[in-house]
Amino acid sequence: MQVSFKLKALAFVCALVAIGASMVGDRASDWTVLRSIWFRRVRGETHSERLESFYAPQAAAYDKFRRRMLWAKEPLLRQLRTELADGDGLVWVDLGGGTGSNVEMMETHMPLTKFKAIYIVDLCHSLCEQAKIRVKNKGWENVHVVEADACSFTLPEGVPAADVVTFSYALSMIPNFILAVDQALTYLSENGVVGVCDFYVSAKYDSPSRQMSWFRRFFWQMSFDLDGIFLGSERRLYLENRFQTMWEENGSGSLPYVPFLRAPWYAWVGRKQNVATSANKGPS
Ligand SMILES: C[S@@+](CC[C@H](N)C(=O)[O-])C[C@H]1O[C@@H](n2cnc3c(N)ncnc32)[C@H](O)[C@@H]1O
Repeated sequence: MQVSFKLKALAFVCALVAIGASMVGDRASDWTVLRSIWFRRVRGETHSERLESFYAPQAAAYDKFRRRMLWAKEPLLRQLRTELADGDGLVWVDLGGGTGSNVEMMETHMPLTKFKAIYIVDLCHSLCEQAKIRVKNKGWENVHVVEADACSFTLPEGVPAADVVTFSYALSMIPNFILAVDQALTYLSENGVVGVCDFYVSAKYDSPSRQMSWFRRFFWQMSFDLDGIFLGSERRLYLENRFQTMWEENGSGSLPYVPFLRAPWYAWVGRKQNVATSANKGPS
């Protein structure tokens, strides 16, 4: 009786120590990310050097932190599952795919065997290394990590077109987003879909579902700009002019360690324009 009590007490203490240690570990990894976001100056001559300077110190802690702030990924992937439900032998290009977390999330919505190939394309070496670890650990044989610029990426020889191209929280970080979108159009199949999710601010005069006050537009644009993330309305406007809008959702979500504030996000799916469709051109 006494021995069993002692064993239970020991197990209880061990559990407390383990919980305490994991909380300290979580806080430490959060602190690594927060230091990069709030205090580190982004350095570098080129875009890839700047990405590396921003992400290298936080690469290993990236997923755990971003899970609590990139809220638009889930609605986007859910919608893509609907769009792709009938497809098979699909090709997916995830531009600015980072650590490959979207592929893991997609696996909860549809079997990855539906894809002939998935390309995680990213310009940041450290995040590509994380993605490679994930692909290896998961044993995904149809997922390829490509360290490349979204503005110049092309499909490998023998792969004629992509059925789906995504920019998940990436378009706002690509300075020449027009080039990246136009380049994606060169390999998107005729019936292909483009999925985008990101933070955003509305235009000065926008549709009622997204309209923001002057202060909100100014505040969020300025806050993200410090980290090289550009939230201006031009990205959405360009998408809506290049593609036919199929679906969109606008929302706002919390940020770790930032009380009260909720950052605005959108998720959007479009298709290639064709002559017969009257495209949604966004607010005029
Ligand atoms: C906020 S992270 C999002 C990562 C991932 N898509 C996700 O949803 O977690 C933005 C990503 O875009 C990548 N990126 C920025 N500019 C790029 C470019 N020109 N070409 C490829 N990747 C780029 C960054 O390296 C980074 O991985």
